[in-house]
Amino acid sequence: MRDRFNRNITYLRLSVTDLCNLRCVYCMPETGVHKKKHSDILSVEEIEEMARACVACGVKKIRVTGGEPLVRRGIEDICARLSAIDGVEELCMTTNGILLPKYAQKLKKAGVLRLNISLDTLNAEKYRAISRVGTLKDALNGIEAAKQAGFSDLKLNVVLMGGINDDEIRDFVRFAGEQSIEVRFIELMPIGECRTFDKKRFIESKKVLEATPELIEKCTEGVARIYSIPDSKGQVGLISPMSTHFCPGCNRIRITGDGKLKPCLHSSEEISLRGLHGEALKETIGDAMRNKPQRHHLDAKTPSESLRTMNAIGG
Ligand code: 5AD
Ligand code: SF4
Repeated sequence: MRDRFNRNITYLRLSVTDLCNLRCVYCMPETGVHKKKHSDILSVEEIEEMARACVACGVKKIRVTGGEPLVRRGIEDICARLSAIDGVEELCMTTNGILLPKYAQKLKKAGVLRLNISLDTLNAEKYRAISRVGTLKDALNGIEAAKQAGFSDLKLNVVLMGGINDDEIRDFVRFAGEQSIEVRFIELMPIGECRTFDKKRFIESKKVLEATPELIEKCTEGVARIYSIPDSKGQVGLISPMSTHFCPGCNRIRITGDGKLKPCLHSSEEISLRGLHGEALKETIGDAMRNKPQRHHLDAKTPSESLRTMNAIGG
């Protein structure tokens, strides 16, 4: 379905839980989040019904997100139901990887096509500092498990933070080359927990090109600019929500774990889908798609208008 600005909305990011086994400083409060009542979280049936309605409105790609999607019980069942929907061409997931040794094969069987794994540092002490509770080795084991299970085109998500991990750009590029995977550097956005971060944390993705001038520009893929790494099968992706306005090319909507449709990540607008069925559900989703806001107005001084922290949206 096309919106008022002629964008074709084909991509749904579906959060299945706001809980997480990590507490990344830019995403979650240190104390974690109050566990919602079971009934506040969408049931497997509701998730499937909403996804089907979105597909009827033109969605072709679904990405399962969290919090951390793998902490949701029955995640394999959710994925199997989503991949079985007629019209779903790609089912993907973004995960921190910690639970992949247990789940990678199950996800493959459930029809998950691709995985993005969040990893903001290759340094064990920094990993603990950023995630507050996690262990780098567990995340690396997760990457290995994904490869073993046959997820060949893995992507690593690295949120760039000035003074924290910008000294590791070359290490990440080397890692991507060695592992034949894509590393995606994402500009930190002032949403939720990091609305109040020091200005020096927000750095532009062109810093990556300054650190690795050998990269060769290849193409644009959705919101990412893709570069190849010479003499390797690895790639680098730059995702620049702050320095480049990719809103004109945005083709996505989001559904939160408690059943709110968010037409734009950075708008406070949320449309409740719970209790709607059949035509009413489709009409509500179609209206929300058509009325997707034109753009966000973020910069280092103007934080997101979204009322949620990232763990409650799914990135
Ligand atoms: N800015 C940029 N990316 C973020 N993510 C979470 N919070 C932010 C933020 N403030 C990323 C996560 C994950 C993806 C879903 O979104 O690291 O890779
Ligand atoms: Fe968890 Fe991802 Fe948020 Fe980190 S960024 S706390 S891994 S949901």
